[in-house]
Amino acid sequence: MLALNNIGHLVTNDPAIGNGPLGIINNAGLVADDEGKIVWCGPQDQIDQYTEAQPISCDGCAVIPGFVDSHTHIVFAGDRASEFEARMEGIPYAAGGIQSTMRATRAASDELLSLNAQHLAYEALCSGTTTLEVKSGYGLSVVDEERSMRIAKSVTTETTFLGAHLYPTDIKQEDYVDLVVGEMLNACLPHAKWIDVFCDRGAFDVDQSREILKAGAKAGLGTRIHANQLQKGGGVQLGVELGVASCDHCTHLNEKDIEALSSANKTTVATLLPAAELCTRSPFPHAKHMIQQGVTVALATDCNPGSSYTTSMPFVMSLAVILMGMTPDQALWSSTQGGAQALRRTDIGNLCAGSQADLVVLDAPSHVHLAYRPGVNQTRAVVRGGKCVVGAL
Ligand code: NIG
Ligand code: FE
Repeated sequence: MLALNNIGHLVTNDPAIGNGPLGIINNAGLVADDEGKIVWCGPQDQIDQYTEAQPISCDGCAVIPGFVDSHTHIVFAGDRASEFEARMEGIPYAAGGIQSTMRATRAASDELLSLNAQHLAYEALCSGTTTLEVKSGYGLSVVDEERSMRIAKSVTTETTFLGAHLYPTDIKQEDYVDLVVGEMLNACLPHAKWIDVFCDRGAFDVDQSREILKAGAKAGLGTRIHANQLQKGGGVQLGVELGVASCDHCTHLNEKDIEALSSANKTTVATLLPAAELCTRSPFPHAKHMIQQGVTVALATDCNPGSSYTTSMPFVMSLAVILMGMTPDQALWSSTQGGAQALRRTDIGNLCAGSQADLVVLDAPSHVHLAYRPGVNQTRAVVRGGKCVVGAL
């Protein structure tokens, strides 16, 4: 049982119970049951009707749903700081850098990989991420992908098999897709909820991506795709054709891609990863235009050692607002409910009755401060499943 009151500004993401699209309630209270599910939230003077417990005061702070980071690659070893330094001197980002993380990952022990993934998941939790998707993709052999997926599963239920991240150099390209859709998929299946493919220059083409995603879907996995990160191409169109849950990156889109995403906005989300554009000095996607055209947009970190080594959703929100033209309201929605939609979940990303009591108490008067104060930790407490797991209430 959890009861909170004196919430100055509560974002519920349920327009039916509060103001505007974010369903904001001022001077609010919230009650969760012993199973960690929300029982009620509303005006604080009604809280006595829902609990006999003495509520904990949030001292007028803002409370928001926990962030849903629907795109990370946190199972890896080593880092690529020297690649980053070289990039800042002008060497462009290329998919090939994945090979160096693959070598470090293969050489690492299970313990080291687990510790690194747990450390990054905890770092994310400390900035308010209560649900995290985690991909494999730095093993690129049957044994190393299987253990990456096993480690991913120890961190989250939202696990994604990304054997099709890049061709490893120790196997013929024409044999690798067969391996991914055959032995590797079978080995990873017990640990996987999703399958993903990097459909781009230097990685997998549209036909190979189609074959891989269809094989995953046939085996019972949900589908998602890395699309149009490095150049314009057919990744987004393929994603929409296959009804994937999410097309991720969407850095280089033409109007036809935007139309396709907009017509599929109930099934396929466009997940934007602006920290990847920032750290690879790439152009930012036209988020404002996409939203105006009716595309459902999620925001995520893409945390990985190559293109985006951050776990911070608040930082991503700052980028989305300051550099991609999203409003603070849109950035908050896309980082919570949008991420939930990208993972096809309705029980997270909002604070409706029946949803998980996953929330962040901010050291701030409103969610606008998340974008307004870039890089500043404003997390006062993080609650997951009704329990305070970071900070203090
Ligand atoms: O999403 N695009 C493919 N994968 C990662 C980058 C991986 C890496 O460079 O290590 C991404 O940006
Ligand atoms: Fe990625």
